[in-house]
Amino acid sequence: MPEPVRLLLVCLGNICRSPMAEGALRARLREAGLAHAVEVDSAGTGGWHAGQAPDPRAIACATRHGVELGQLRARQLDPRDFQQFDWILCADQDNLRDVRARAPASARARTALLLPWAGHAGHAIPDPYEGDASDFEHVWRLVDAAARTAVRERRWEPGD
Ligand code: 4NP
Repeated sequence: MPEPVRLLLVCLGNICRSPMAEGALRARLREAGLAHAVEVDSAGTGGWHAGQAPDPRAIACATRHGVELGQLRARQLDPRDFQQFDWILCADQDNLRDVRARAPASARARTALLLPWAGHAGHAIPDPYEGDASDFEHVWRLVDAAARTAVRERRWEPGD
C-alpha cells in the first residue's frame, strides 16, 4: 500500500474556511473511495482560536450540506507541517504569503492557493468571519466545488 498523500488546508483562524475545506475534501474523498489514499488536516496561520471547534456558522453551513465539522479543533500552523505534508493549500494570498515566509529551506511541502490548485477560476476564498450566513454559503460553494474537482482530477498527483 503506498503512503497516503497528505494535504493541509490553511486559513487565518482555522475556524471558518480551512475546516470547511477540510470537511468538504474528506466527504468527497470518502464518496470516491479515496479516504485511505489522501489524508486531510487544517491549520491557521494565527493561533488565537487554537483548541476551539469551528465557528458555529461554519458548522451550521456544513451541516446544511450534509457534512459534520463539530469534531474538528483549531490549531496553528507548526514548523513540522512543512515536513509532514505534501501540499499546504491556502485560502487567500495573505495566508500563502505567511505560510511561505515560515517555510524552512528544507520544506518538503509544496504551497499553493486552494482554488487554482484545484483547477478553479478565482484566487481568494473570502474571509466570512465578519459576514453573515450568506458569506458562509459562498465559502461552502467555493470549497466544495474545489474539493469535487480536486478529487475527480486527482490534483495531488505529480504532474505538470
Ligand atoms: P478563517 O476566519 O481564517 O476562515 O478561520 C477567521 C477566523 C477568525 C479571525 C479571522 C478570520 N479572527 O480575526 O479571529
